[in-house]
Amino acid sequence: MLVYGSMLTVKRKVVKRLTELTKKAENVKLSDDGTKVIILDQEKLPNVEEYLELDNAEDIYEAIFRLKVRGAPAIGICAGYGIYVLARQIDTEDFDTFYREFKEKKDYLDSSRPTAVNLSWALNRMERVVLNNREKTVAEIKDLLLAESRKIQAEDVEMCRAISEHGLSLLKDGDGILTHCNAGPLATSKYGTALGPLLLGKERGMEFHVFADETRPLLQGARLTAYELQKAGVDVTLICDNMTGLVMKNGWVNACLVGCDRIAANGDAANKIGTSVVAVLAQYYHIPFYVLGPTSTIDIHCPTGDDITIELRDPEEIKSKYYREPSTLPEVKCYNPAFDVTPHELITGIVTEHGVIRAPFKENIAKLFEEHPEK
Ligand code: MRU
Repeated sequence: MLVYGSMLTVKRKVVKRLTELTKKAENVKLSDDGTKVIILDQEKLPNVEEYLELDNAEDIYEAIFRLKVRGAPAIGICAGYGIYVLARQIDTEDFDTFYREFKEKKDYLDSSRPTAVNLSWALNRMERVVLNNREKTVAEIKDLLLAESRKIQAEDVEMCRAISEHGLSLLKDGDGILTHCNAGPLATSKYGTALGPLLLGKERGMEFHVFADETRPLLQGARLTAYELQKAGVDVTLICDNMTGLVMKNGWVNACLVGCDRIAANGDAANKIGTSVVAVLAQYYHIPFYVLGPTSTIDIHCPTGDDITIELRDPEEIKSKYYREPSTLPEVKCYNPAFDVTPHELITGIVTEHGVIRAPFKENIAKLFEEHPEK
């Protein structure tokens, strides 16, 4: 196979190397004194590694909205720490006043991005802590919020590990894998979801040949997935989104692994725009197509993919963001949805921390939620 990158010497300005992201949860954390959320600015990767300290509602909102922190689980973790940081700034002993201000900030953060369910899921968990402890002092409630936000992250580490194990059980050493967008450690806490099996397999001496779609328009595949896999020593080849069909036709792909932002109760799965195209192609070429994500990404209250709100973003992301000069005339209309929904009929399996869910998805997802009620 001809791999163009191997013929080039690429000079990069990497300020500091990523600190073994597969081993540490470093992309989102709380400062030691609990006053700030610290995030690795994903907007600047892969060329600059810069951490941002966020201590007010506008900056936290902006970081999520501009994808400085992104990936469904990572957004949830950031929101959990974020609402804690904001809650500790509320200066009152009166529960009603505290709750009113808490709720205002919570709703504001919740409005930063609409599609990834983990955002509202984490914020609702934090709100339940407040409401279930109204007999306690505000100081005690703040302590409980701190514990809950840490728990959200710790659980994510466990979930990603379990997803990685289940995902790895579906693969063979030497497999060719295609992935879209970024569902690695940067998008979660550790290991990631779709990249988790590949990173775990690598730790165990397995070799995979991964094709990373560049993922227009914000290039999460090129900037983040290729970066994470390359650093981890996994064989990765970057392709443009419209090359997916060709690598499949050539027989280079044994399985597709993608993440998810919201899975409806019937198994329809929203993920980065272009994912459904990969799924259609995978079906045509008889390649298994797996969606990997924690159960926190399943929205049991959302009946089908048609009920998922799809975020529309600034046309400039398509027209100019990654070009030295605009790629089109300023007056050209653009349609820039951030996600699409893959119908469950195209999905071979949904890999959660509890195992692999297969068709019939509606029944099997309902069963999973009976066995593991929502947190
Ligand atoms: O717009 P983004 O970059 O937040 O979109 C992210 C994705 O679509 C990921 O695949 C998804 O959040 C899963 S991350 C484990």
